[in-house]
Amino acid sequence: MWYPYHMFSKPHQLFKNALAQHYSIGAFNVSNLEFAQAVIGAAETLKAPVIAQTSEKAIEYAGVKVIARLVKLLAEQASVPVVLHLDHGKSLETVKKCIEAGYTSVMIDASTKPFEENIQTVKEVVDYAHQYNVWVEAELGAILGKEGAVKLAGEKTPESMFTDPTQAKQFVTETNVDSLAVSVGTIHGVFAGQEYIRFELVEKIKAVLPNFPLVIHGASGVKDDEIKRVTAYNVGKINVDTELRIAFDDSLRDFLKKQTDMVDPRDVLGAARAAVQAKVEEKIKLFGSEGKA
Ligand code: G3H
Ligand code: ZN
Repeated sequence: MWYPYHMFSKPHQLFKNALAQHYSIGAFNVSNLEFAQAVIGAAETLKAPVIAQTSEKAIEYAGVKVIARLVKLLAEQASVPVVLHLDHGKSLETVKKCIEAGYTSVMIDASTKPFEENIQTVKEVVDYAHQYNVWVEAELGAILGKEGAVKLAGEKTPESMFTDPTQAKQFVTETNVDSLAVSVGTIHGVFAGQEYIRFELVEKIKAVLPNFPLVIHGASGVKDDEIKRVTAYNVGKINVDTELRIAFDDSLRDFLKKQTDMVDPRDVLGAARAAVQAKVEEKIKLFGSEGKA
C-alpha cells in the first residue's frame, strides 16, 4: 500500500466514534490561509475532530498541492485529528489528484446522473480510492441550491429529488461507498424559512442502513434545533460553508467601514478570520463534537 508522506488523519475511526456517541463531525470549506487557520484553530480550541474540505472551485483557486500542504502544516501544529476531504468532486481525475496530494477522504457527486449511472461512477471511484484506504462519500437524491447563495427566493426541493430509502440501500450495497449525502430538506446556501429537515425520511433511511454514516449538506440556514436533533440519526458529518462566508464578509465590511487612518490587510483579514473561527466553534458545539478528539 502506498501512502503519501503528507497524508491526513483517516476518517474511518472518527466516523465510528461519531455514530457510536451520536454526534457529528463538522466539515468546513476552506480555500485560503485564513479559513484553514480558522477551522483548525476552532477544532484545536474545542478539542474536536474536524474535516477541512475543498470544492473543485477552491482547488482551482488555490491549487491542490498548495492547499493540501497548507492545511497539512496547520494540522501538524494541532493536537486534534484533521481530515482533508474533496467536496462535491465531479470526476475520477480530480479524485486521483486529491489522493496524490494527501487527501484521506473524497466525495464523488454524480447525483445529477440517472441512478444506474450514479452507481457506476461511484463504483469506479470507490475501487480506485479504496486501494489507498481513502474514504468515499457519494450523493443520492439531489441537494439543490448553491453555496454562497443567500435568501434567493423560490428554491424548493421537489419531493422527487429527496433520497429514496430503498434506492439508498441498493446504492450503498452495490457501490460499497463509505458514507452517503442525503437530500432530506436542506439546501446549499441560506434560505431562511425554506429549509427544514424531514425527520421521518431521515428515520427511514437510518432504518434501512443501520450503522451507516449519513452526511448532511447545506447546513447553513437550517435551524439550530433541527441540526442538533439530526446528529443522533447516524449523521457522521455535517457540511457548512455559506454561514462561514457570511461571517467573513460581514467582518470585512464592518472593518473597512470603520478603519480610516491605517492600512493593513492583516488587520482586516485577521478580524475576518476570527469571525469565521467563532462561527466554526459555534457549529462544533452544536454538532456535539466538542471534546471528542
Ligand atoms: O458541500 C458543502 C455544503 O453542503 C455547504 O452547504 O453552504 O449551505 O453550508 P452550505
Ligand atoms: Zn454540499
